[in-house]
Amino acid sequence: MSGGASLSVLVLFLCISGRAQAQVSAPAPQPQVTNATTDPSQARALNSVFEKWKIRANPEQWNTTGDPCTGAAINATKFDDTDYNPLIICDCSYQSSTICHITQLKVYDLKVVGVIPDELWSLTSLTNLNLALNYLTGPLSAAIANLTGLQYFTVGINDLSGELPKELGQLTELRSLAFGGNNFSGSLPSELGNLFNLQQLYIDSSGVSGEIPPTFANLQNLEFFWARNVELSGRIPDFIGNWSKLTSLRFQGNSFEGPIPFAFSNLTSMQELRISDLSNANGSSSLAFIENMKALNILELRNNNISDSIPSDFGVYQSLSQLDLSFNNLTGQIPDSLFNLSSLSIL
Ligand SMILES: *[C@@H]1O[C@H](CO)[C@@H](O)[C@H](O)[C@H]1NC(C)=O
Ligand SMILES: *[C@@H]1O[C@H](CO)[C@@H](O)[C@H](O)[C@H]1NC(C)=O
Ligand SMILES: *[C@@H]1O[C@H](CO)[C@@H](O)[C@H](O)[C@H]1NC(C)=O
Ligand SMILES: *[C@@H]1O[C@H](CO)[C@@H](O)[C@H](O)[C@H]1NC(C)=O
Ligand SMILES: *[C@@H]1O[C@H](CO)[C@@H](O)[C@H](O)[C@H]1NC(C)=O
Ligand SMILES: *[C@@H]1O[C@H](CO)[C@@H](O)[C@H](O)[C@H]1NC(C)=O
Ligand SMILES: *[C@@H]1O[C@H](CO)[C@@H](O)[C@H](O)[C@H]1NC(C)=O
Ligand SMILES: *[C@@H]1O[C@H](CO)[C@@H](O)[C@H](O)[C@H]1NC(C)=O
Ligand SMILES: *[C@@H]1O[C@H](CO)[C@@H](O)[C@H](O)[C@H]1NC(C)=O
Ligand SMILES: *[C@@H]1O[C@H](CO)[C@@H](O)[C@H](O)[C@H]1NC(C)=O
Ligand SMILES: *[C@@H]1O[C@H](CO)[C@@H](O)[C@H](O)[C@H]1NC(C)=O
Repeated sequence: MSGGASLSVLVLFLCISGRAQAQVSAPAPQPQVTNATTDPSQARALNSVFEKWKIRANPEQWNTTGDPCTGAAINATKFDDTDYNPLIICDCSYQSSTICHITQLKVYDLKVVGVIPDELWSLTSLTNLNLALNYLTGPLSAAIANLTGLQYFTVGINDLSGELPKELGQLTELRSLAFGGNNFSGSLPSELGNLFNLQQLYIDSSGVSGEIPPTFANLQNLEFFWARNVELSGRIPDFIGNWSKLTSLRFQGNSFEGPIPFAFSNLTSMQELRISDLSNANGSSSLAFIENMKALNILELRNNNISDSIPSDFGVYQSLSQLDLSFNNLTGQIPDSLFNLSSLSIL
């Protein structure tokens, strides 16, 4: 990764971690005083993973008695509390509140080097797993299918390689999936189209390539799809126009062909739309698709061979703060209404 790319991906992940965690509905806070102990196989697995990664809990915080589910791990600590890293959070309601399972695990920016140990995949109660910003290498194992309750998963900014396991498509509880900033190869598994609950998908600079699989038509709950600097190719699919909750789309540095589908005109929740560098041998794009995107805050359509004039009623985009239509084939006049946009700061 270049410095610039990794910086922007870094910003991305800081932003994701805040966002994802804000949405996590952690298990109901457990009473501080409990006699429950960690499921022995989960305790063993966690200890083994941490040993291989050469990291340890701060014993002041959790693992206070040598048992992982103690202290901050069971006293309603929030996952995004920056005082705790690494962090686990446990749910101690198992077997009449005598057994704790590890439900959340954060190993974020701890300079961990090495592969992801197989033991990790036996922490089958995980709902939230954040391994971002380390130096993890090797593949992502098919055994990830074991984590059937996973809702938030990031391995962003590591050095993972190999093909993405199609088993990711079995994790149908996923709300957020982030694997950008890695060195994966191959295409996006069509099984990812099973992730009907997915709201956020971040694959910037992940190394994947090829067309967006037709099964992605099912991802109707997507709000964020960031795919910068990946060799995605083919036409931009019409079905993206059906992702009616989409608020942020980034297609930059790809190998897509235009035109931008007119079906995008249905994306009325769109706030940030960045599409750049489309080749357009099959006919140029028009700007008609932005007509109903009244919530736009950022519109960047650089170098897409758009042949059109700028709509005269540009005053409807009252939230617009950044507008970039450069390197297209725009003709005609710049409408006066463009200068009526009180939020516009970058033109
Ligand atoms: C924990 O165990 C002690 C003694 O075994 C008992 O007195 C106490 O009530 C237990 N506490 C809880 C929260 O179960
Ligand atoms: C928890 O503490 C025990 C005893 O100090 C230690 O052996 C173990 O590695 C610790 N586990 C973690 C995950 O830090
Ligand atoms: C949770 O436990 C940690 C470590 O024992 C402590 O520092 C923190 O204040 C506790 N937080 C709450 C909300 O009880
Ligand atoms: C998957 O989870 C089961 C326990 O539910 C465990 O026996 C098995 O070893 C796990 N697989 C891997 C690869 O960790
Ligand atoms: C990425 O993986 C490819 C093989 O798929 C390898 O040739 C290349 O050196 C790797 N790049 C980095 C930066 O690790
Ligand atoms: C969009 O969704 C509608 C209704 O679910 C469906 O009929 C249509 O085929 C979809 N369009 C595309 C391009 O997938
Ligand atoms: C927009 O969505 C409606 C309802 O799903 C559909 O009938 C219409 O064809 C769509 N428009 C475009 C341009 O795809
Ligand atoms: C731009 O679009 C025209 C058709 O309108 C096409 O002939 C031309 O090849 C396109 N240019 C590029 C660079 O895609
Ligand atoms: C142009 O569109 C036709 C029909 O939709 C398709 O068969 C062809 O592959 C497209 N070519 C390019 C370069 O997009
Ligand atoms: C640019 O737009 C003009 C007017 O709409 C059109 O005649 C011309 O063919 C376009 N050029 C390209 C390269 O698409
Ligand atoms: C600019 O905004 C003012 C007040 O909202 C309105 O009266 C005027 O017609 C607008 N001008 C243009 C060119 O849209």
